[in-house]
Amino acid sequence: MAEVPEALGLAPEAVQRVLEAASLAPSVHNAQPWRFRVLPDRIELHPDPRRRLPATDPDDRELRLSCGAALFNLRLALQGEGVRPLVSMLPGQDAPGALAIVRRGGTIEPDDEQRALLKAVPRRRTNRRPFHEARVDPRQCHALVRAAELERSWLHVVVTPQDRAQLKKFVKQAHEIQLRDEAVQAELASFTGHRPGSTDGIPAASAGVRPELQDEWVFRDFQGPERLPGKDYESDPLVVVLCSFYDGPLGDLQAGQAMQRVLLAATVHGLSASFLSQPVEVHSVREQLRRSLGGVLVPQTVLRLGYSTPVAATPRRPLSELLLEPDDCRS
Ligand SMILES: Cc1cc2nc3c(=O)[nH]c(=O)nc-3n(C[C@H](O)[C@H](O)[C@H](O)COP(=O)(O)O)c2cc1C
Repeated sequence: MAEVPEALGLAPEAVQRVLEAASLAPSVHNAQPWRFRVLPDRIELHPDPRRRLPATDPDDRELRLSCGAALFNLRLALQGEGVRPLVSMLPGQDAPGALAIVRRGGTIEPDDEQRALLKAVPRRRTNRRPFHEARVDPRQCHALVRAAELERSWLHVVVTPQDRAQLKKFVKQAHEIQLRDEAVQAELASFTGHRPGSTDGIPAASAGVRPELQDEWVFRDFQGPERLPGKDYESDPLVVVLCSFYDGPLGDLQAGQAMQRVLLAATVHGLSASFLSQPVEVHSVREQLRRSLGGVLVPQTVLRLGYSTPVAATPRRPLSELLLEPDDCRS
């Protein structure tokens, strides 16, 4: 395994802990499209171009969301090591190709909230199982809205029956478009049901049960087990649309950090979450969704939240695959 060097005044073992926490972030199909360049005065976050999903995510928007989530974990883990992270996003010539540079901005004693979020990093999982028929407590819902606001993003809670019906329609419409798209289906298949020992993708144990087109909310099909007769999904999950205030790479990175803060806050509150990304992946449907939200907010991801039984963790690539050499400028 490649040696993890010292950085930001931290010993190699501490840098390793920080990078491992970053790599526990969620990513589309668990592709883990991030790499890190570690120098004495900085940790750079780079996209991994070999982990792009050109059919599902042609503009790399979701790649940047995933990398934003890794950046949030990295910030939290640095705080846990007593380092105040100073982040420059899209640093340009300072680090060609990098999505962010994180430097040391002094020392910090993490507060209770940061500690709780950091503890939630290894416990957070995408949970595709049916949820219990219980409404999410409004105080917990408020905590999620606040989590997004703290990361300069917006969490739109889909409340009214009309809005919920419309969003369900968008999910179904986009899902059907993606079912007909062979390239999208090929990408999905290449990350589904990986054999034991695989370090990416979605193992059968995390697939959830098979979705059906008549479901209220149509999930992506990761070839999970067939549903038992009479066993259905919950009728009324909390559904939210995480939005950025502007379009483009910076908005995407911001939204990725907000997404992760929302997911970790949900974990702290005992909530499970899964994604309904189809309507933000199909351009024409995303545009309709954007208009339905008033035309100003930029919809970045759709989450379903509720209470469920625990699920197993998905695998991660070893750190040795994630480290860029100090003089390596590929990205
Ligand atoms: C931007 C983004 C979009 C995602 N979209 C979906 C989705 O539409 N359906 C789904 O089941 N999972 C979706 N996921 C969840 C990933 O598949 C999951 O994060 C990955 O398999 C790693 O598993 P974990 O979240 O349990 O660590 C998405 C994740 C991200 C970051």
